[in-house]
Amino acid sequence: MDKKICIITGANSGIGKQSAVQMAKEGYYVVIACRNKERGTLALEDIKRAANSQDVELALLDLSLISSTKNFALDINERFEKVDVLIHNAAIFDIAQKEAKYTDEGYETVWMTNHVNPVALTYMLLDKLKASEQGRILTVSSKGLLAKPFLKIDLEDPEFRNRKFSMTNAYYQSKRAQVMFTYHLAKELEATNVTVNCVRVTAVQVDISRHGDISDFMKWVYKQKSKQSITPEQMAKTYTYLATDPNLVGVTGQYFDEKNQTVESNKYSKDQSNIHAIMELTKGYMD
Ligand SMILES: NC(=O)c1ccc[n+]([C@@H]2O[C@H](COP(=O)([O-])OP(=O)(O)OC[C@H]3O[C@@H](n4cnc5c(N)ncnc54)[C@H](OP(=O)(O)O)[C@@H]3O)[C@@H](O)[C@H]2O)c1
Repeated sequence: MDKKICIITGANSGIGKQSAVQMAKEGYYVVIACRNKERGTLALEDIKRAANSQDVELALLDLSLISSTKNFALDINERFEKVDVLIHNAAIFDIAQKEAKYTDEGYETVWMTNHVNPVALTYMLLDKLKASEQGRILTVSSKGLLAKPFLKIDLEDPEFRNRKFSMTNAYYQSKRAQVMFTYHLAKELEATNVTVNCVRVTAVQVDISRHGDISDFMKWVYKQKSKQSITPEQMAKTYTYLATDPNLVGVTGQYFDEKNQTVESNKYSKDQSNIHAIMELTKGYMD
């Protein structure tokens, strides 16, 4: 394969889909990693058409499951000599969900999908990223964390087994953990050619029809929010910038906003002992 290879998780909608179009236009061979074959196939055709490229493929990946993550990584490791860009875009934030959901493997879906399995996938693909001239990993967090300055990862109960579930808390816990993983990995990969940076996604328009049973009031709230939001295409430009800009060779462990500017995360997330504790907890799922 002559082309550089880019994997984008959750690329069948929103920012991930637009990012797939942009990366294909940049000349990359793009793997869209999606959990649903039907939605993935529809998106694949749209992306190929929009990018005017046939070098886009669908690979199935359900990030809520360790088994699916392992199978996906096995397939990629078998078929590709290297991976140049890995974008951890997929996440769940289902405002209609009121109770914690546990997978058949017994783990809570938000924590696994948004944090644990992206970490696991990174380590499973790391040799292929190192085989790239300059491998780049992008993690994805949220500007909404600014409104949750005191939210910590619950080391005793990250999966809401003994506390009341809240989608907001589950989501922001996972997004803070992704920022901390970024700092951890950047340090770990300091002596390599692989960089890792985190995107602080701002308010971006979402396709509200993707959410199941939400009240008319919530639909109205989303409609209002959407007026203050940027488009997925605009936000995807930051992914593309971080994934491709030649000036970013060697830039690692940074947190970028939608204007491609570096921003700070909170004190808790930068504390080395907190980072260590979260990574110990996360690696516990991978044994
Ligand atoms: N939109 C915003 O305002 C906003 C703000 C802050 C951060 N973000 C972050 O930006 C990223 C993209 O969000 P978006 O706005 O583009 O939302 P979106 O359109 O809902 O995209 C999320 C993608 O993740 C996929 N996904 C969910 N669970 C998955 C799983 N278990 N395995 C594989 N894929 C899975 C979804 O696939 P399905 O179609 O199968 O559900 C979908 O393709 C996310 O990380 C999100 O947290 C967004």
